[in-house]
Amino acid sequence: MRVLTGIQPSGDLHIGNYFGSIRQMINAQKESETFAFIANYHAMSSGNGGERLAQLTMQTATDFLSLGIDPEKSTFWVQSDVKEVLELYWILSAFTPMGLLERAHSYKDKIAKGISANHSLFSYPVLMAADILIYSPEIIPVGKDQIQHVEIARDIAIKFNNEYGDILTIPEFRVQEEVQTVLGTDGQKMSKSYGNTINIFGEEKKQLKTIKKIVTEQVALEEPKEFQNCNVYNMAKLFLNESELIDLQNRYKRGGEGHGHFKLYLADVMWEYFRPYRAQREYYIKNQNEVKEILKNGAKKAKEKATPMIDKICSVTGISY
Ligand code: ADP
Ligand code: TRP
Repeated sequence: MRVLTGIQPSGDLHIGNYFGSIRQMINAQKESETFAFIANYHAMSSGNGGERLAQLTMQTATDFLSLGIDPEKSTFWVQSDVKEVLELYWILSAFTPMGLLERAHSYKDKIAKGISANHSLFSYPVLMAADILIYSPEIIPVGKDQIQHVEIARDIAIKFNNEYGDILTIPEFRVQEEVQTVLGTDGQKMSKSYGNTINIFGEEKKQLKTIKKIVTEQVALEEPKEFQNCNVYNMAKLFLNESELIDLQNRYKRGGEGHGHFKLYLADVMWEYFRPYRAQREYYIKNQNEVKEILKNGAKKAKEKATPMIDKICSVTGISY
């Protein structure tokens, strides 16, 4: 089974990214052939560019490695190091009805928020389809917001195959049921673009400050508290095992502690959870050349898969003559 995912280098990674997608990818390494890449072309569609894009590409790669992407087990590279994907992007455009892109939620949401659209924002799902289809993966682990993009890739692949035979593998998305959407400090979906994130590798004091901002209900200290809909509880749930969770529920039910106490607990639990990854990260930060080397080797491996596929596609479509 081949599993593939991409992540945009568009800012600091947050716990929504981790539980929604990165962790699935790390776990998939145990039993599947895994492909993971830094989607730097995609990041350009939301205005990232220049020195900052280059820096964020290295930062995201460093963070991925620190969180457990193992270059021995996974093919791990930067999207732009395999340019064949851009050729496929163009070819697939010819199999992409306008309506399919016009219906994309992610595009529509950005327009609704007043972000002025450029062509790359609109055609983003076609590049994503090329990213996927060129490597023939069966499974794409993503957060809920990316499901439609994988469905678009399927639609495009089916249309292509109808014309040229069974060349492209039809991919399926996979979302982790229990953590489809991680909520942010304000109770909305956690997202860089909403400024409500808790970063994986934030600095300790800053981290605590962010956690203190989590919106909770106003209840007197001595009163019992609702845990089911509490943003602090729901976030802590991501990090706790069954018995720790029951202990926390009891603390809510008992009363005598305020949300401030639960926030401190959450900060502690989170800090401990990411401790080993932070240590790993310090190593990679000091050894950026090693990170670059890993990425270049990954690109070589990725190219070995992409080249025969693009050759075949160019042949059947008549681009090669
Ligand atoms: P952001 O919304 O912060 O810009 P991205 O769009 O870069 O995040 O998402 C990268 C990956 O992380 C995607 O697979 C996405 O589905 C997942 N993801 C992002 N935010 C969340 C969230 N709040 N809950 C679950 N998964 C998420
Ligand atoms: N669009 C994805 C996101 O914003 C990133 C991405 C690009 C991706 N290409 C992909 C994810 C291919 C999975 C497969 O999160």
